[in-house]
Parts: sequence; structure tokens; C-alpha cells
Amino acid sequence: MKLKKILGIDIGGSGVKGAIVHTKKGHLVTNRFRIPTPQPATPEAVAGVIKKITEHFKWTGPVGVGFPGVIQRGIARTAANVDDSWIDRDLNKLFSETTGCRVHVVNDADAAGMAESKFGAGKGETGVVLLITVGTGLGTVLFVNGKPVPNLELGHIILHGDDAELYASDAARKNEELEWEAWAGRFNEYLLRLEELIWPDKIIIGGGASKKGEKFFPYLTTKAPVVPAKLMNEAGIVGAALVSRYYNKMENKDRKKKKK
Ligand code: BGC
Repeated sequence: MKLKKILGIDIGGSGVKGAIVHTKKGHLVTNRFRIPTPQPATPEAVAGVIKKITEHFKWTGPVGVGFPGVIQRGIARTAANVDDSWIDRDLNKLFSETTGCRVHVVNDADAAGMAESKFGAGKGETGVVLLITVGTGLGTVLFVNGKPVPNLELGHIILHGDDAELYASDAARKNEELEWEAWAGRFNEYLLRLEELIWPDKIIIGGGASKKGEKFFPYLTTKAPVVPAKLMNEAGIVGAALVSRYYNKMENKDRKKKKK
């Protein structure tokens, strides 16, 4: 199976976006196609949207999907900002059956991190690199000498007695109509807390808020340098495709071994 081009899809709170990705070059080879996230965003309804995206691209090859929750071997374990009915569903199976394609699902922050580490702001970095996606939630991924620690849920550490995500995400800024400076103060507190816990050498900020870096980067005071993600809102799609490529390769190897 040729694995150069893979359909990458990112499930977000407001939209499900997909594009075909050149996995060796790390960029999109088509425009992004976006369908609003169905409400309620149940697994079946979202599976229907993913099917529509594969149909839009007339796609039958491998697909990688980024999901905003913990994913263990294709199974959703948490659903902080989506419907609880996702928990414990086998999403690899559900999406593969619905689309007829070979689908691999991965945590959305892990996907974005893979893309940034291979092609973006984390390229060639050694040491400890923390990537935070700032959007509806706070997605986190840690790279140690280029290798990720999957499903690291540091968006849910406790700050001021509550989930950090409710205090310092971009959704918190919007919901509470905070000025950038006020929100930057909160986000800085969050970063300082993480720094005390894991001492990253570099922090990369991705997700929706990364496009507005000039509004809050000046207020950040961590010891580690903070830089914006390079792939911006493409990282989730590119990364999902990269992860799918990785799993397809592994599974193909396993199949060959079994045949011998
Ligand atoms: C979820 C993470 C996800 C992040 C960004 C958090 O609420 O727990 O798994 O990566 O949101 O979508």
C-alpha cells in the first residue's frame, strides 16, 4: 500500500475538517473541506460526517482522525468537551465500518504535536518540548528527544480549585469576555504551574489562539522560551495523517510477519 498521501481529519467542537496530506512533505495537497459538527455530536452523527468527507474526496485509502479526548488503541476513554456517549467506544472500528476505509483515531493534541515535531516548530528539537493547543480545551503533548508521550492530559490539572481548562482555555476567554491581557495573566499562571512540574526546554503554542500570539505572548514569563506553532490550524489534519501512516506501516509489518 502506498502511504504517501493520506486523508487527515480533525474533529473539533464547531467543525469537522479534512484534507489530503502529503505525509512525507507535511503539507496539504487539497483545500480543507469543513462540515459543521452535528449537534448533538454523538459518535454516529460524527461518523456520518466523516463518511461525507471521504466521499467529498472520493477517498478509499487510509484515514487518520484526531479526536478531542484520550484514545487508547482506537478506543475513546474521555470526552471532556464532547458527548459522554463517546466513552469506551471503539472509534477505529466505528469509523472504519461507516466509511469502508482503514481509519485510525488519535488524540487531537497528539496529532498536532506529531505534525509540529516532524515539520514545524519542534522539528529537530532534542530535550523536553511541551506543545499546548489552546482552543475549546487545553490539549497537551510532551516530546522527549522527539518521542511523544501520548494522552498526556495536562489541560485538566487543578488551578484555583478547578479544572485548568475552565480557567485558561480560549473558550474561557470568550465565555467570560476577558480582555487579552487578563486572559494572558491566567494562561501565564497555567504555564508557570506546568513549568514547575515538568521543566520543558521549549513550549510550543498551537490551536486557535496561536493565530493571536501577538496579543498574549508579551505577557508570558516562563523560563522556557514560548514559540507559536508553525502549521497553525493545519497541524491537527497533518498530524492525524502522519499517525495513520505510522499505524498502517506497523500493521503491514505485523501482517507480513504472520505470513512468514
Ligand atoms: C481533552 C484533550 C484534548 C483537548 C483539546 C481536552 O479537554 O481532554 O484530550 O486534547 O481538550 O481538544
